[in-house]
Amino acid sequence: MPGANIIGTGSSVPKRILSNKDLETIMNTSDEWITRRTGIKERRISTKGRNENTADLATGASLKALEMAGLSPESLDMVVVGTVTPDRQFPSTACMVQAALGADNATAFDVSAGCSGFLYALSTVDNAIQCGNCKTALVIGVERLSSIINWHDRGTAVLLGDGAGAVVVAANKKKKGVLSTHLRSDGKLWDLLYSSDGNTYLPTALKTIRLKPYLLKMKGNPLFKRAIECMATITKEALEHNSLKSEDIRLVVPHQANIRIIWGLAKSLGIPMERVYTNIHKYGNTSSATIPIALDEANREGLLVKGDHVLLVSFGAGLTWGASILKWTT
Ligand code: COA
Repeated sequence: MPGANIIGTGSSVPKRILSNKDLETIMNTSDEWITRRTGIKERRISTKGRNENTADLATGASLKALEMAGLSPESLDMVVVGTVTPDRQFPSTACMVQAALGADNATAFDVSAGCSGFLYALSTVDNAIQCGNCKTALVIGVERLSSIINWHDRGTAVLLGDGAGAVVVAANKKKKGVLSTHLRSDGKLWDLLYSSDGNTYLPTALKTIRLKPYLLKMKGNPLFKRAIECMATITKEALEHNSLKSEDIRLVVPHQANIRIIWGLAKSLGIPMERVYTNIHKYGNTSSATIPIALDEANREGLLVKGDHVLLVSFGAGLTWGASILKWTT
């Protein structure tokens, strides 16, 4: 069976920086509280009219990943996007990216799995490659969470940001870069993190959409506890599946929701923070985009070396969580 290998990474974030100090001027919060409780110092927020919509950010990240891979968009068989903040309910963000890139030979679709969207998308592509249905694919995680932030809720508004990350994945009969991906969901806990309203009852929804936009709602405390527990358990499953130990992991690239969650995860796995990549201070929580942005930054900083084992681990709305172990092959 062919293996899936990441051969290019890219990321793209909006130009506008919104710092904790800026937030102090618009809500009852402080740089001190946000830094101490979350590790976030600033985040990027897209600006209307600057080509910073969800599909724009995803396209920007994809172009960089394709450039690194040395491939043209026409060579792509699949474009899979993880997002919960598409520009439109349909068509999919993936189809809009396909058009922007000119990836005319690809099958394109979105995956909705909260902050685990990127890992769900990566797993889908990995399976397609192993089945022989795909040779080259783009896997993207992208969000414009600013489109659903409730600026009157300081408990969530300070956490979120916008951005995109992408990887080019290629089949190779001799190399297996994605060793395995392990995914879980628990829909019983959907109401810990969700967007308000919905379109179940269409006439009402049409009325409320105009009055009340879709806004992110979250119960932070119970999520915090589950995040560490779920990510640690799924990582242990992934390590065991590959007969690896924590010390075999060269770099952990975790979902960036809260630095204290990342510390808790590292402690639970017995992995020192020097081997955990964090950039939450710059971008906050960009949901599906945190892992591919961090992976791209780590790659461009030269932290990913051929032969290294890399752990990607996520947790988010759904609830969904997952872990993927890579053997870096480029
Ligand atoms: N600025 C200042 N004070 C704030 C604040 C803000 N932005 N947000 C909340 N507070 C206050 C609360 O009102 C509360 O005050 P009180 O004690 O007077 O009632 C106090 O800070 C503590 O609030 P609490 O919600 O218990 O804080 P916390 O330490 O749990 O941190 C989160 C809140 C959201 C940062 C944290 O729960 C978290 O990160 N949760 C998980 C997020 C997550 O995993 N999301 C899903 C994956 S994407």
